[in-house]
Formats: sequence, C-alpha cells, structure tokens
Amino acid sequence: MAAAIHFHDQCQNGANASLREETLAGFAGDPKWASPKFFYDRRGSELFEQICQQPEYYPTRTEELILRLAARQIAEIAGPQASLLELGSGASRKVRLLLEALHPASYLGIDISRDFLLSSTRRLAADYPWLEVHAACADFSRPMQLPEGFDGEHPLAFFPGSSIGNFDPPEAQVFLRNLHTLLPPGGGLLIGVDLIKDKAVLEAAYNDAAGITAAFNRNLLERIRRELDSDIEPARFDHQAFYNEEAARIEMHLLSPGAQTVTIEGKRFSFAHGESLHTENSYKYTPAIFCDLASSAGFKSVALWLDPRQLFSVHYLQRE
Ligand code: AVJ
Repeated sequence: MAAAIHFHDQCQNGANASLREETLAGFAGDPKWASPKFFYDRRGSELFEQICQQPEYYPTRTEELILRLAARQIAEIAGPQASLLELGSGASRKVRLLLEALHPASYLGIDISRDFLLSSTRRLAADYPWLEVHAACADFSRPMQLPEGFDGEHPLAFFPGSSIGNFDPPEAQVFLRNLHTLLPPGGGLLIGVDLIKDKAVLEAAYNDAAGITAAFNRNLLERIRRELDSDIEPARFDHQAFYNEEAARIEMHLLSPGAQTVTIEGKRFSFAHGESLHTENSYKYTPAIFCDLASSAGFKSVALWLDPRQLFSVHYLQRE
C-alpha cells in the first residue's frame, strides 16, 4: 500500500511556460545556453540516478561516505526534534543516511521533478513509518516559502550533491540569502560542496565511459522536442564536458558538428559548424572560498568534513 505523504504543488502551473520562455531566450543568446534545471524531467532524473552509480562519478559515493561517518556529529549539532528539509531531494536516498541519527519528526523533500518527487517521498514514507513526510514541487532557484503544515520551527536544511555548483558564485550568494530568509535564526544548513581537484579526475566524472552523462545532456533536447513544438534532433548534437580552470567549473555543452537550423515554437535558430549550446556549469570550491561565500550570505561555519582523498566537502552552516 502506498504510504500517505503531504503534497504541496508549487510548480505545476507555469512549469511548462518557464521551459518555453527560458529555452527561447537561451537559444536566442550568443553564446546559446539552456538552464540545467530542465534536465530533470522523469527520464532526466532517472539518468541522473544512473550517473551517480558510474565508477567515474565520485561525488555521490564520496558524499555518502562523509555523511555516514558524520551522521552522529550532525545530529548532536542539530539538536533534538529538528525537522529536516531537503532541496533537490531527487530519489531521497542520501537523507536516509541521516534519518536514524537525527530522528526528526518531519521531513520535507523539495524538487522540480514532480512525478519523481512523488514516488521517492512515498517510498521514504513507507520505509520510515514514524516520519511525517511532506513533498513540495518547487523551483528552488527562485525565492520559496515553507508549505503550510510543515513545522519549520527548528529546521535543518539539507542541500546535498553540490547542486549549489550549478549557480555561478553571485547567483549562489543570492540563493543562500533566499535560504537565509526562509530559515529562522540559528537554523542549520548542511550542504555538500564539490572540491577543486585534478583536472583529469574532474573531467572523467563528466565523461563516463558508459555514455550516461552524454545521454543525460542530450535528454534536455529530447525534452524540448517532447514538450515544446520543435523539430530539434538530439542525435545531431555531441556531448562535451571539460574543466575550465580559470573559472573553477566543469562546463557541459552540446555541440553541433555541422551547420544546422532548428525550429522551436515557430522560431528558427541556426547553429554554425561546431557551435555549442551551453547546458551546465558545475562550480568547484575550496573549503575556505566556500566559507567566505556562505559568510557573505549570513551563514557561519560550524563544522566541516572532508573525505580522506579530499574530493568532496560537507559544511554545517548556521544562519546568523
Ligand atoms: C546535480 C548539479 C550536482 O554538477 O555534478 C552530473 C549534475 N551533470 N553530471 C553535477 C551533473 C552532469 C550535478 N549536480
């Protein structure tokens, strides 16, 4: 039997309109771009789960290792009765590493991928009968409100996976300020942040041999073709991912190997030979640079954990 969850729909209306508007704006840009938040339809969320299992993609497995080892300390810092809210909860898998130690009364998963969110949180509710489970479909890159009925009095916000890396640093600061508004003084933020490291290790993680990241990248075009009125052919674009050392970010692109013209919602867009559609940035940090960013948004650093190879970091921040 499906377990009951409290569902708060904050993105059903307008989600498609924003895909249309942002896609048209991005394809008209020079350089052309698309927002990575649109990777995550059901198929995209499934592909992302597969990326997390690829041997080259170290962030997931490393963050899980850190969380497993730090769970007790995290629970001690958070204190009793903390409610837990997760941004970009996806499959709600990582939070399971914290639930036993934290034993919060309630959990709120927030994600842009509606169906995926519903099935993941229902599974969570079935596995943890003592937990009050809420799910909110929302775009957390915009200012948000806590849904009614969720106890936000003593919350710990959990933002794993280095999803903060999708924002450029000024956007990340705005995002953290929005979270600052959402949380009460003293509220905690447990956030996973990928670290600057050897270029070869970074580039391998975004160019897995099985081609899952390439399929994930192209799924953005599949989605445009499915959900908008478009003749774009995903197979006519090549996956590209590389580390831009100066900007400290992985860049993902879809390259047009030859000249081609695509139509989206009645508008025509021409790609020159070798021209790219920039689909994602994934910024990497040092612990010190990230602490500075957090502090500029009103969060103080309470604790920091790294794995022994220093591939990934988890920060415990407190809203001032
Ligand atoms: C979910 C944004 C953290 O940047 O590593 C994985 C997304 N893109 N492989 C990342 C992603 C390609 C991921 N984040």
